[in-house]
Amino acid sequence: MSDSSRFTITAALPYANGPIHIGHLAGVYIPADIFARYKRKIGDDVLYVCGSDEHGVPITIKAKKNNINPQDVIDKYHKMIENSFLEFGISFDIYDRTSNKEHHIVAQEFFKKLQNDNKFIEKTTEEYYDEKEKTFLADRYIKGTCPICGYDDAYGDQCEKCGTSLEPSELKNPQSALSGEKLTKKETSHWYLPLEKHEEWLKNWILKENGSRWKSNVVGQCKSWIESGLKARAVTRDLDWGVKVPIDNQTGKVLYVWFDAPIGYISATKIWAKNNNVNWETYWKDSKTKLIHFIGKDNIVFHCIIFPAMLKSYGDFILPENVPANEFLNLEGQKISTSKNWAVWLHEYLVDFPNQQDVLRYVLCINAPENKDNDFTWLDFQARNNNELVAILGNFINRVFVLCHKYWDGKVPAKNNLEEVDKNIILQIESTPKKIGDFIGDYKFRFALQTLMDLARSGNKYLADTEPWKLFKQPDQKERTETILNIAIQITASLAILCEPFMPFTSKKLKQMLNSNNSSDWASASNINQINEGHLLNSPQLLFAKIEDEQIENQINKLKKS
Ligand code: 2FM
Ligand code: ZN
Repeated sequence: MSDSSRFTITAALPYANGPIHIGHLAGVYIPADIFARYKRKIGDDVLYVCGSDEHGVPITIKAKKNNINPQDVIDKYHKMIENSFLEFGISFDIYDRTSNKEHHIVAQEFFKKLQNDNKFIEKTTEEYYDEKEKTFLADRYIKGTCPICGYDDAYGDQCEKCGTSLEPSELKNPQSALSGEKLTKKETSHWYLPLEKHEEWLKNWILKENGSRWKSNVVGQCKSWIESGLKARAVTRDLDWGVKVPIDNQTGKVLYVWFDAPIGYISATKIWAKNNNVNWETYWKDSKTKLIHFIGKDNIVFHCIIFPAMLKSYGDFILPENVPANEFLNLEGQKISTSKNWAVWLHEYLVDFPNQQDVLRYVLCINAPENKDNDFTWLDFQARNNNELVAILGNFINRVFVLCHKYWDGKVPAKNNLEEVDKNIILQIESTPKKIGDFIGDYKFRFALQTLMDLARSGNKYLADTEPWKLFKQPDQKERTETILNIAIQITASLAILCEPFMPFTSKKLKQMLNSNNSSDWASASNINQINEGHLLNSPQLLFAKIEDEQIENQINKLKKS
């Protein structure tokens, strides 16, 4: 394992203010999971961290709306979110939460060090205040019209439509999201991270060093940020809910959620490292470790500009090697919306499609919003399942197993003389693992999955071209039939390994069917003698089932009712 690498993979911490939907999965957690699973399979040292983001205005707004405590909100949704991730096979090494005491200590220590090292500036300014609620307003407590795209429901910190990060003063017609009252202003003082002092190195690092490697949507957003001039950003807020500012006599002040949340990646690492008896610093301070942030496009500025500036200010942290942000997934042509209940919730999906996690994982990857916003439709979901998973992958594997059981009682037949058609498919078996791996390494998950399906497609074509069911009936073609099915079994064994990052449940079933306890590292997927002659196969199981029109109509009707 001398040339193996070490990866710290982070997936954006979801706000614990609601359950998880398909947009979250497609944008962040599935690509990150494919990446993490693949890197583990090639023997790299992988740490995949995530957790619930439990501070900030999204949580307190939800609590207020439901007339409950923020703590009740986060307890409910943290559990729900963690469970959804588990059910969908998202293979985090740790799923933490930012309400953990440990996280508060780590975030406070981080702030303290920056403050002691004079990395902040302290400023007194006039900020929006809600006289009725007796509270300062910031971030999502202020709503108004986006100055960039004209969206009416933009927040004081960000427009969710176009992804632009905003200051409350930039919003047109700002109003209090709490009371709807007119906004007044009041003096308050806060700590600011002077981003303008980081402009030079950020510019070089993002545009020159990383410009050609990072995704163009990510570089583009950073470029427009930098070009419009970086300004100091407040890292504290006048709120009760959050990590308390660790300075005496600072009642009613907490760290800005976007200051504490990314530190959550570090505190999660510390907890994981302690539990596993390793040094957490290896994953954050060793220059050989590659830090990769998987996020949605609305998080780009925080992970490419603000968090790196925080890490740099602290001193000895590594910076992200890449930030492969995805665009947004829409649903039936409309933006996914929690408040309008325009979403496919993971926990509800599993009630309607029990044990069909891999179907959703497949559809969300093959149609992922990698380079542009994309649309999830139920008809496409049905077509992808029926025409691809059932008709190509499932059908190929089922035919292979049925024939082996029928002709040789499940014993893998011999590989005899090879013909041209065999040699061609063998070449494809041998080259596919590297091809898929290279695509995954380049964050091109759609191409990677298409390449996997191409192998299954070729397997089907191989059987259709060679017609072993006809040959078997001819006494002089016995050996030929054996060779074809032996090769078909090797393809199946490769598929079992190669589908693991994308469809871990299917991979597991396939391995059971193959009755193989091979170590099954990635490289062995190119071995065309993976399964020995005479090896006894188990009976085939149903991998994918046809989805009927009625099931799809039900889903569409359910959405229409929302
Ligand atoms: O946009 C969001 O959902 C945020 N909760 C993401 C936080 S990512 C990180 F920095 F922790
Ligand atoms: Zn906008």
